[in-house]
Amino acid sequence: MKVDISAHERRIGAMFDRVSRRYDGLNRILSFGVDQRWRRRATDLARLGPHERALDVGAGTGDLALAILRSSAADTRVTAVDLSASMLRLCGLRAAGAGLTRRIDRVVGTANALPFPDASVDRVIAGFAVRNFADLAAGLREFRRVLCPGGRAVVLELSTPPNRLFGAIYRFYFEQLSPRVATFIGGDPEAYRYLPASVARHPSAEAVAALMRVAGFSAVRFERLTFGAATIHVGEA
Ligand SMILES: C[S@@+](CC[C@H](N)C(=O)[O-])C[C@H]1O[C@@H](n2cnc3c(N)ncnc32)[C@H](O)[C@@H]1O
Repeated sequence: MKVDISAHERRIGAMFDRVSRRYDGLNRILSFGVDQRWRRRATDLARLGPHERALDVGAGTGDLALAILRSSAADTRVTAVDLSASMLRLCGLRAAGAGLTRRIDRVVGTANALPFPDASVDRVIAGFAVRNFADLAAGLREFRRVLCPGGRAVVLELSTPPNRLFGAIYRFYFEQLSPRVATFIGGDPEAYRYLPASVARHPSAEAVAALMRVAGFSAVRFERLTFGAATIHVGEA
């Protein structure tokens, strides 16, 4: 299947290609390791049963995909989809290091046209990826389309804390401090300017939940993590 990648997606893919080598280290430093706690919660919600299969959209270097495989039955599989071939290459190396190569497939592709048949997976997971989508509603429709009946989507994303005081501290850290820290330790300044802008543009948790309902999910709910610095959205197919 030939899929057209938009100019926006090409730009995002190229940016993640550039930051791929430093991505994991910078994440840990800039989030003080809290991102790993958030991923553990997402993993609990997305754990696979025997024979089940998940799609990790915007899988990057595979943090979520590998965590889910580690905590699920030995015959489960994950397909990691990402715009960035460099991120997926690192995902492959990490899978090999963890002895999980045989349970993970990697596909370069876009969330807006997932290269999978209708009703073909049991989970769709996305960690810190959906705010980058050119068309979030279309991406969520794709998540719903590929899920089997009884399947579940688990979407973990950065968000702006609703509390005004905490929100102001968070914005100062995110917009002023973290790009400087990232640049100082050798990160890509453009990427760390893009990061706060993409979070600021991302719809509220309530709005994302509404989009999930429109996309056809039922029992849609969300959990705010760390005062709303991140949010996990869950929807059932
Ligand atoms: C911030 S990283 C997160 C990686 C990983 N999920 C994690 O938890 O660390 C976002 C990833 O989403 C990918 N991405 C962004 N937009 C995408 C799209 N429309 N389709 C597929 N992947 C996308 C990027 O290339 C990048 O690797």
